[in-house]
Amino acid sequence: MTAERIDGKAFAARLTARVKAASDRLQAEHGVKPGLAVVIVGEDPASQIYVRNKGEQTQAAGMRSDTHRLADDTTQDQLLALIAQLNADPGIHGILVQLPLPDHIDSAAVLGAIDPDKDVDGFHVVNAGRLAVGLPGLVPCTPLGCSLMLKDALGDLSGLNAVVIGRSNIVGKPMAQLLLAESCTVTIAHSRTRDLPALARTADILVAAVGRPEFVRGDWIKPGATVIDVGINRVPSLDPAKAAEGKTRVVGDVAYAEAAEVAGRITPVPGGVGPMTIACLLMNTWTAACRSAGVEPVLGE
Ligand code: GUN
Repeated sequence: MTAERIDGKAFAARLTARVKAASDRLQAEHGVKPGLAVVIVGEDPASQIYVRNKGEQTQAAGMRSDTHRLADDTTQDQLLALIAQLNADPGIHGILVQLPLPDHIDSAAVLGAIDPDKDVDGFHVVNAGRLAVGLPGLVPCTPLGCSLMLKDALGDLSGLNAVVIGRSNIVGKPMAQLLLAESCTVTIAHSRTRDLPALARTADILVAAVGRPEFVRGDWIKPGATVIDVGINRVPSLDPAKAAEGKTRVVGDVAYAEAAEVAGRITPVPGGVGPMTIACLLMNTWTAACRSAGVEPVLGE
């Protein structure tokens, strides 16, 4: 079998266009322009690139985009003061503090200071709790993107066996909650799981979110299963001369070529889950803006 490739880039482009149209409507009909504030502390080059992309895509979607670039030696109190100011700003509907933060700042305290209704990352414990009990809230972007792609690819997920490899608060746990909400039978696997390959082979839906390059092998996959690869891992280039120059390539948590021989559908890396994350951030910003205006967030076609 050769798996169908789930094109996350195209899916994200369609979702972003729908969010932009909905956001334009919110502005025209209710006078509310969704606004996203992104806060970055320090000079980490990868974070700088992510933050620039987020700002550009937010503007391209017709939303207000504010980026707050703070110095590496910013104190926790200064950062908390900025968050208090953004919480109180009626023109800002979403607040994202780029992680990781410098070591002298307590990330949990900072994330916990964001107004849960502006927490477009969905990392606040209030949003984790809302997701767990089925209340409307804001859902972490990466698992939300995975869930949308799965529903698009498979339709009704109810009764399917889902195995999520990885138990992080950002991906694994919320992913499991979303699959449970779709009536899947969900297992969360992690580093202590016994006979992971055998468990993975029970999965109709296999989500890999472990951060280990090409960890999931082809013979772990049930024939015809749908495989969602959340990993983004930098490894040396395949060309030894380029590798010697320090050139890298990006691979997922799944050995793609092997897995694609067995799976029914699979997301590639790059071009799978990654592009959906920013599209879902824009969707969450629009959702938060709708709720602030008392408007039901219903995305048109
Ligand atoms: N750093 C890497 N990914 C993310 C993300 O999705 N949200 C935040 N806040 N920081 C990140």
